[in-house]
Amino acid sequence: MHINIVTLFPEMFSAITDFGITSKAGKQGLIELDYFNPREFATDRHRTVDDKPYGGGPGMLMKTGPLVAAINAARKGLRDKGRGSEAKVAYLSPQGRVLDQAGVFELASRESIILLCGRYQGIDQRVIDQEVDEEWSVGNFVLSGGELAAMTLIDTVTRLQPGAVGDKDSVNEDSFSNGLLHWPEYTKPQVFNNQDVPNVLLSGDHEAIREWRLQQSLVATREKRPELISKEILDQKE
Ligand SMILES: C[S@@+](CC[C@H](N)C(=O)[O-])C[C@H]1O[C@@H](n2cnc3c(N)ncnc32)[C@H](O)[C@@H]1O
Repeated sequence: MHINIVTLFPEMFSAITDFGITSKAGKQGLIELDYFNPREFATDRHRTVDDKPYGGGPGMLMKTGPLVAAINAARKGLRDKGRGSEAKVAYLSPQGRVLDQAGVFELASRESIILLCGRYQGIDQRVIDQEVDEEWSVGNFVLSGGELAAMTLIDTVTRLQPGAVGDKDSVNEDSFSNGLLHWPEYTKPQVFNNQDVPNVLLSGDHEAIREWRLQQSLVATREKRPELISKEILDQKE
């Protein structure tokens, strides 16, 4: 998957390119990230990328010119790699569709995407109106910039690229993948501070373990996130 990122702070992305599954996926060519910094497209002597909002008020906004030039360069970058036609421009925004695992599955199936990271008080509405195809939020709170949100999105879609996670069953069993939270897990030692690993996990009875895990998933979801449970996602047995 090709991900072109419009950001004033490309260096921040080393948090995902240098560590863990996302780093490995980059080296395997499962994800490819390219950066387009609006500052490099600013034409004045000071390379200005922000300005005051019309109508007054606190804070600054990202200027239209350098931002649109960076988006166009990101589009061209994908076109040059033969990936341009279907790529959507996604603005990371607290006003967007809240990212959930269903959204992650949807995004992960695409060949390419352009992620637009806002800074300051955000971006000029006309850039949203004219250039942005969709808005994604990582939650109902406000970050200082879109980079952490973009990294969250990239991490989540990378996990779903075939071959990114060693055992593909582990991503299919992750919380939310089947609409439920994950069951509790245990590793060695068998007894920790007088608490035993549940017996069934030591039984070697795979059917009993599968049933116990499903039951625990249902209990965890009912107790921690009851709003996730709807009749439609449960089968008769559940
Ligand atoms: C300080 S925020 C701007 C918030 C904006 N004034 C508002 O109230 O909607 C700066 C940038 O951070 C990013 N951002 C903030 N919260 C976010 C969230 N929950 N999800 C995704 N991006 C977010 C957006 O790119 C935004 O342009």
